[in-house]
Amino acid sequence: MNVLLFGATGMIGQGVLRECLLDPGVARVLAVGRTPPTTGHAKLRALVHEDFLDYSAIADDLTGFDACFFCLGVSSAGMSEADYRRVSHDIPLAAARVLAARNAGMTFIFLSGMGADSTGHGRLMWARVKGQAENALLALPFRAAYVFRPAFVQPMHGIRSKTRLYRAAYAIGAPLYPLWRRFLPKYVTTTEQVGRAMIVVARHGAPTRVLENADINAVATPAGSS
Ligand SMILES: NC(=O)c1ccc[n+]([C@@H]2O[C@H](COP(=O)([O-])OP(=O)(O)OC[C@H]3O[C@@H](n4cnc5c(N)ncnc54)[C@H](OP(=O)(O)O)[C@@H]3O)[C@@H](O)[C@H]2O)c1
Repeated sequence: MNVLLFGATGMIGQGVLRECLLDPGVARVLAVGRTPPTTGHAKLRALVHEDFLDYSAIADDLTGFDACFFCLGVSSAGMSEADYRRVSHDIPLAAARVLAARNAGMTFIFLSGMGADSTGHGRLMWARVKGQAENALLALPFRAAYVFRPAFVQPMHGIRSKTRLYRAAYAIGAPLYPLWRRFLPKYVTTTEQVGRAMIVVARHGAPTRVLENADINAVATPAGSS
């Protein structure tokens, strides 16, 4: 499987990249970002790009992939709706339109978040924008498209969030992870589980197109077993 990964330098993207590089069934990974990942690997190529609303200069590089894991995103904290919409709606849609036109067999997986509003009309800005992005992406002519809605994502294997707010939350919450995972499994997942689940869903599909946190954990089988 050839994988295109957006957001590979982010907290979740780093986790997804790690699982892709470990999975023997993933032949190559192209990481597209405004900065390259720090990880080096024989299967990995980095493509640094500046304008995430325009892919015309790199469209040929974005051809020949079986799966796209779209992990580029931001926290809405302190952002205007227009700025948040540009990153969380316009950027994924611009990329996905190019990919759908050039990769007939592609499975596209969009990283959203728990609470995204499928009606696209709710009062909560981030949820409304993410819900609108989800709906638009699911309507594109991919072979298959899925939305992942994790809740709290625990960083594993030394991965750290780039978002200061999240880093602080993880530092405070770290001692409680084992308790949360035991008693609140519907609301906690890990970077490893999200990465594994993306690979499994790209390979085998899923019973539902929108995977909530519990669905992600349920499909996240270990490497070598999928
Ligand atoms: N962390 C969680 O617990 C959690 C839970 C549920 C949902 N989510 C959602 O998952 C997504 C990713 O979260 P994360 O924690 O991995 O975020 P993160 O650590 O802040 O990483 C964000 C990634 O997106 C890229 N990016 C952000 N803005 C960009 C822009 N304008 N142009 C190009 N690239 C841009 C970053 O690239 P650079 O490295 O170049 O900055 C980085 O690769 C977000 O939408 C978040 O809301 C996160």
